[in-house]
Order: sequence, then structure tokens, then C-alpha cells
Amino acid sequence: MTARSRFHNPVDVRFGAGALADLPDLVGHRRAVLVTMPEARALGMTGQIEALLGQRLAGIIDQVSPNPDVRELAPMYSDFWRRYGQCEVIVALGGGSALDTAKLLMVAGADDRFATLVDALDAGGTFEPTRTKRLITIPTTAGTGSEVTPWATLWDRHVKRKKYSLHLPHTWPEAAIVDPCLTRSLPRAVTLQSGLDALSHALEAIWNVNANPVSDTFAVTAAREMMRVLPQLMASLDDMTLRTQAALAALQAGMAFSNTKTALAHSISYDMTIRHGLPHGIACSFTLPTVMRLAIGRRADRDAVLAQVFDGDIDGAPDALTAFLNGLGVATEFSAYGVSEPESAQMIAAALDGPRGRNFIGAAA
Ligand SMILES: [Fe+2]
Repeated sequence: MTARSRFHNPVDVRFGAGALADLPDLVGHRRAVLVTMPEARALGMTGQIEALLGQRLAGIIDQVSPNPDVRELAPMYSDFWRRYGQCEVIVALGGGSALDTAKLLMVAGADDRFATLVDALDAGGTFEPTRTKRLITIPTTAGTGSEVTPWATLWDRHVKRKKYSLHLPHTWPEAAIVDPCLTRSLPRAVTLQSGLDALSHALEAIWNVNANPVSDTFAVTAAREMMRVLPQLMASLDDMTLRTQAALAALQAGMAFSNTKTALAHSISYDMTIRHGLPHGIACSFTLPTVMRLAIGRRADRDAVLAQVFDGDIDGAPDALTAFLNGLGVATEFSAYGVSEPESAQMIAAALDGPRGRNFIGAAA
């Protein structure tokens, strides 16, 4: 008999080429603020949103920078709540950083100070917002998965040199528009990084204590598809069929880890990003073969699901994954990134003890 489990995701997902046209319907009669990255204007995306929403677009914040940081977000947050306190909806357009920034902006306490939110996260307590916005996410990369999850990553690169994770019932997006056309002009490096981020989300959802049969279905499909599509896409960046397939795989990976959260590879990645400046997609994927070797043999049911990704060959899976990553130009040893053997061992041990590390099936009970 199968154990009982639960899968929950409340996001209204609109997928497919041209799905951006659904935005006016999703916003309805409400007023919206667009949160996006500066390059969205030159790419014509900001103009598309302006044309679709007309008078319903109350304002644009397009100064989102990569990896949202406490110091940069504080003035943006105060300004956002002062200027747009009456707007009901945030439309977040961009990669993971834009979507995460919107989730950090969308909740506020009695004052407009970002420090109130950060202090609550720093104390490890729960932030109880008294004012919230609704969120519509529009990813422009095929990778983040943030469009269908309630989590946001916040960095403090300057003072405490640490990473926070915001996770509230209020930060689930109301809707996500996944339109592969928006990924058409994505540069080569970002296409690779986001695809590998999605692959990491899928595999991390499998070697995860929170896995369930529904997340497994999404994860296996996403991992197999991303491993098939990504090498082809890197050789043919303009192919919209491949772009669409990558976008679907990234969405499926997002659905999988929306219920499991990530695990050890992501836990390690935060140190690699903050200490060594590695982009997220590389930081969370170059260790996947290492993490897989730690996962295999821990739980027969997880091995069985993992085997589905690799045509039943669980023994050959770590080498197959290494060859896949190397074939895309991604080195899988810590030394390639300037990390010594002792430092990497210390990093893995610390990561196993972190909140995401404890989701890993190989972590101590
Ligand atoms: Fe990720």
C-alpha cells in the first residue's frame, strides 16, 4: 500500500508561446506595478507590458539587480510602499532575481522599513505582514522555477555575508505566465546557467525527504527532458521548439521543488556564490554528481526514482551526469573553482547542516 502524501500548489499557470497575452485578464480591474530588470526596456518587454496594461499600470520599478541584496533593496522597498501602497498587484518580469525581489517587496509590516523584515528573518522568527500585494510572475529565463514557488532568496553580501530565505503563505504567486517567446534572446551563458538550475531543482526534488509521488513525476520528467534538450539548445539558441521544451522542463522542475524545497547541492551553492562569486546555475549544478554519489544507496525508493532519469542505470548515473556537465563545459570538481579539498569538505559538512541540507536524504536524522 502506498503511503499517503500531499501535493499543493495554488498558482494559476499559463504556458505556451503567446501566453503573455493573458496578462490583462489576470490583472483584471486592479492596478499593477511592474518589477523588472533594467534590460527589459531595451528588449522590448517593458513596452509589451505597458501596451497590455495601459492605464492599469501604475508604475515601473526596473532597477532590479542580480541576487537581491539587503543594502540595495532597503531604499527600493521604502520607496515602493510609499508610492504604491494602494496598488493591489505586482507583475514580476525577469529571471529569479526579479521574481525574488517582487516577493520581498510584496509583504510589509506596520512601517515601510525593509529592516523590519530583515530583522525578523535574521532572528529566525516568522515575519507577520500586515499589508500584502498579489503577485503575477513572468519568467524570462527557463530555469528559476520561482514563478511557481513562494520562496525568495535575499543576500547580505556586505555586512553579515549570509543568505536569507523568505517563505510565507502570502508569497505564493497568484498566477504565472510562462511564455517561451520571452526567452528567445537569452544569451548563451544565461541559457546554460538557467537550464542547469532547473536540472538541479529536479534532481534535488528526488533526493529529498519531502518528495512525494506527484513531485517525483514532475521531477523525473523535468530532469530527463532538460538533459535531452539543453545540449541541443546550446547548439541552436534560436530554435523556438527547443526553447519551448526547455521552458516546460524548467516549469515542471519548479512544480516539483515547490513542494520539496531544494537540498544539498543548493545548500552548498550559497557558499560558492557568496565566497567565490559563482553564478547560481553553475554553483548549484557542478556538485550534482558528488551529491548524487552521496544520495545513492540511502533509500531504495529514492534510488528507484533516480534510476528513471537515467534509463534504469543507477550505477552509471553519476558518471553519466558528470559527462553531461563536462560536455556543456561545466567542471565538476571543486578545485576547478579554486576551492581546496579541505575547504570543500568543510563546505559540504556545513551545507548538510543548513536548512536546505537537512532536506537531503543523506543528512543526519
Ligand atoms: Fe536554484
